[in-house]
Amino acid sequence: MDMAVEMAKSDPDRIVPSVLLVDDRPENLLALEGVLKPLGARLVKARSGEDALLHLLRETFAVILLDVQMPRLDGLQTAELIKQREQTRHIPIIFITALSRETAYIFKGYEQGAVDYLLKPIDPEILRAKVRVFCDLFVRGEMIRMRSVESDAKDVFLADVIHELKTPLAAAKAQAQLALHQLGDRRTDATTARSLRLISRQIDRLNRLVGDLLEASRLEAGSVELQTSQFDLSALLEEMRNRMQPLGDRHPIRINAPEKLSLIADKDRIEQVLANLLSNAIRYSPEGGPIEVDAETTGDGVHIRVRDRGLGIPREHQQLVFERFGRAHGSAFGGLGLGLAISKGIVERHGGRIWVESTGRPGEGSVFHVQLPLVTPPAQT
Ligand SMILES: Nc1ncnc2c1ncn2[C@@H]1O[C@H](COP(=O)(O)OP(=O)(O)OP(=O)(O)O)[C@@H](O)[C@H]1O
Ligand SMILES: [Mg+2]
Repeated sequence: MDMAVEMAKSDPDRIVPSVLLVDDRPENLLALEGVLKPLGARLVKARSGEDALLHLLRETFAVILLDVQMPRLDGLQTAELIKQREQTRHIPIIFITALSRETAYIFKGYEQGAVDYLLKPIDPEILRAKVRVFCDLFVRGEMIRMRSVESDAKDVFLADVIHELKTPLAAAKAQAQLALHQLGDRRTDATTARSLRLISRQIDRLNRLVGDLLEASRLEAGSVELQTSQFDLSALLEEMRNRMQPLGDRHPIRINAPEKLSLIADKDRIEQVLANLLSNAIRYSPEGGPIEVDAETTGDGVHIRVRDRGLGIPREHQQLVFERFGRAHGSAFGGLGLGLAISKGIVERHGGRIWVESTGRPGEGSVFHVQLPLVTPPAQT
């Protein structure tokens, strides 16, 4: 990992593209070199098609300049071989040919954009301009690749930091609890007790945030192990309704599921997904309204729907809400925007899918859909 960070921090200016020049005549190679020198790219010369292929085995190039008329392996045959190899087929080729424009149709057979040609005698300006475009493309591609390495490293770092937060939080919570206990219920200490209770509640909130962040980053990193077992989804839904219903009778929870719906999955995590969906349905229906949960088998899967009559989610936010910290209704509702990102991670880890349907008009609400396989495939556990 250190290596990756080291690499990623290297200056983008230091990405030097290489250009492969292939021609059987040394004087042509020298001429090409003269024209391309100002670009600052590394110029590698090959005297034959075979020689070019050897270079391509060793390193990667931003673009290849290929003379068409060469003895033995000519330019077209060489290109054919380059395009056949997985590792080299993406490298753009510019053919250099003395043939007239009419024969340009030969090149039509190649993938678009990756192949270009120049007629002899070569116009230095045009040659330089074409090669520069490919060099720029190459540098940009390399930078994107490096940045993605860097952001992987950042995610690992973030997960470590989040994990470290847990220790001081647990200590602070224990101290607050202890102080509250020692205060007892002496009247004079009422304000102190109130403050302590507030501190304690804020610590709980932080703890939840830390736990959710950790869970989200672990799910994203794929380092979550599923504990699968067989359980009855219908019973689980019933149990959850009994637990959550007292929280608010303004949101009657109605369940529509078969008598028994046997599922092999990670029960705790499926429960976590359902709890997220139900608490969202309640939280984002400030005017109240029923919450309907449907579950049914469909072939080798189960389809769960959670419908509310709340605020809904405008179409343009329907992707965003499944991302970390993605919120469609700002911070007014006290959410952090992690619940659905975690739910999506869990569902996908089971080989399933989660999505939302909503007109975005308040009162018409949303329907969250979860599709899961009846048996979690072993590759996922
Ligand atoms: N049933 C729903 N109706 C309307 N909007 C919803 C609903 N469920 C989620 N949303 C929108 O999607 C956003 C993301 O939801 P998510 O559950 O990921 O985060 P949250 O509820 O804001 O916070 P938490 O991390 O506590 O769950 C919410 O902020 C809200 O804007
Ligand atoms: Mg939520």
